[in-house]
Amino acid sequence: MEKCKKVYVGMSADMIHPGHLNIIREASKLGSVTVGVLTDAAIASYKRLPYLDYEQRAEIVKSIKGVDSVIPQETLDYVPNLEKLRPDYVVHGDDWIDGVQSNTRKRVIKCLLEWGGKVVDIAYTKGFSSTAMNERIKEIGTTPEIRQKRLRRLINAKPIVRILESHNGLTGLIAENASVIINGVKHEFDGMWSSSLTDSTSKGKPDIEAVDLTTRLHDLNDTLECTTKPVIFDGDTGGKVEHFVFTVRTLERLGISAIIIEDKIGLKQNSLFGTDAVQTQDSIESFCHKIRSGKNAQVTDSFMIIARIESLIAGKSMEDALERAAAYVKAGADGVMIHSKDKSGMDIKNFCTCFRKIDSTTPIVAVPTTYNQFTESELASWGINVVIYANHMLRSAYPAMLDCAKSILTHERSLEASNDYCMPIKEILELIPGTKALKR
Ligand code: SPV
Ligand code: MG
Repeated sequence: MEKCKKVYVGMSADMIHPGHLNIIREASKLGSVTVGVLTDAAIASYKRLPYLDYEQRAEIVKSIKGVDSVIPQETLDYVPNLEKLRPDYVVHGDDWIDGVQSNTRKRVIKCLLEWGGKVVDIAYTKGFSSTAMNERIKEIGTTPEIRQKRLRRLINAKPIVRILESHNGLTGLIAENASVIINGVKHEFDGMWSSSLTDSTSKGKPDIEAVDLTTRLHDLNDTLECTTKPVIFDGDTGGKVEHFVFTVRTLERLGISAIIIEDKIGLKQNSLFGTDAVQTQDSIESFCHKIRSGKNAQVTDSFMIIARIESLIAGKSMEDALERAAAYVKAGADGVMIHSKDKSGMDIKNFCTCFRKIDSTTPIVAVPTTYNQFTESELASWGINVVIYANHMLRSAYPAMLDCAKSILTHERSLEASNDYCMPIKEILELIPGTKALKR
């Protein structure tokens, strides 16, 4: 063994299996092994966030026999680390010869040429599929603590975090499992929004805090039962300060990652009514007191209280919105949500630009229901960290259900409705993961 040669191995190391150990063993036969452990941000740029955070993964890799040192690999691209380290060899499983990683490999080969380094492809160890292991982990589920911490990790790791409204177990499953592949990269939702609008509407009630917290949490439990992704809870006004402190602790105990409370008082009505409805804003002082009380009440470090600014909804000025944002952050808010029903989106963009000048780090949350022409990367370029698609599961389901009901009435039978609006019975029977007929 010639220890003077430098060998580089890049890995995510989320679920270590014998295949990884084999690569490290083979790499250590070539020289001194540095493992570049991909950071959360590097991994989140092409797939789901790993289960373990960077520090945990780096610690595990450090203790593997054959590893001499561990450094972070901040990008999917190996080149920055290779240029720093100038290794003689880069060792990787041969699964990167074709498929999505083949371009990364080509870049590595080209880079190593500069100083005469070589890529060594190790035969991929069969029988350990991270995809299959991931499915198993999903089946096992999560814990409240892991789920809760995930939102902060996502905000730190991704240019923008993508949240979908969910109002029951079924919509939770969609947020958990729906995915599309774009240019070889899997796109999925990062978490769920528990919306007061859709929770109320699905119960046939208006969005005026008439559905009480206990009822909403009872139903949210269905989503928690069948999902692992983080949840942001729509806390309406947060209620009385004396009640809010209990709400915070209840949500923490359930593993909810964040509550968003809006700076309104009196009878709350949905923001999308804008100035058509009486919307009374709380005073800055009183809302700051609510935020402070919530922050003092929380038990964990990771739970987030996000302050929602209703100035633009209530027809007030941008200055008012910015003054409130700064005050709420000073009072301890872990993020701000700026809301508007203006279709142009320019007031939101303007707010973000101004807010980012005075505060470059506090996460900004946006709910682009009316200004829905902007893509996630455009919103991210304004400085927005979390985008919430706040009502789309309910709004898409309702017209489909109504059409189906009308078709049955029109035809006085369900043949047309089944053909035109319904999924096959076989599909609905097998929709829930793990469902199969128990044989006699
Ligand atoms: C909700 O989804 O209930 C919200 C967002 O609070 S909005 O309906 O736009 O006010
Ligand atoms: Mg709401």
